[in-house]
Amino acid sequence: MFRIDIDNIDGKTESLFVYGENSILAELEEHNVLINYSCRQGHCGSCILKLVKGDVLHQDCLVQLSRGEILACRAKPISDIKISLRD
Ligand code: FES
Repeated sequence: MFRIDIDNIDGKTESLFVYGENSILAELEEHNVLINYSCRQGHCGSCILKLVKGDVLHQDCLVQLSRGEILACRAKPISDIKISLRD
């Protein structure tokens, strides 16, 4: 089981505990943490997050990502992670 810490818009950190079987987007939705998304397939870039700490397994995508950025719809945690919304 992995822990996902996410910095919310209001500056608070929320923690979720997940098995790493689903995308980060699906896990956030499951826990009622809402972020932007659209295509859910790695095409639109709406769901970009910053990976602050930890490792993810990232599937192929069409979006050009900068260092430290991940797509919530294409990434699954493989360790405890900390993520934040992109500034
Ligand atoms: S929702 Fe479109 S890239 Fe993730």
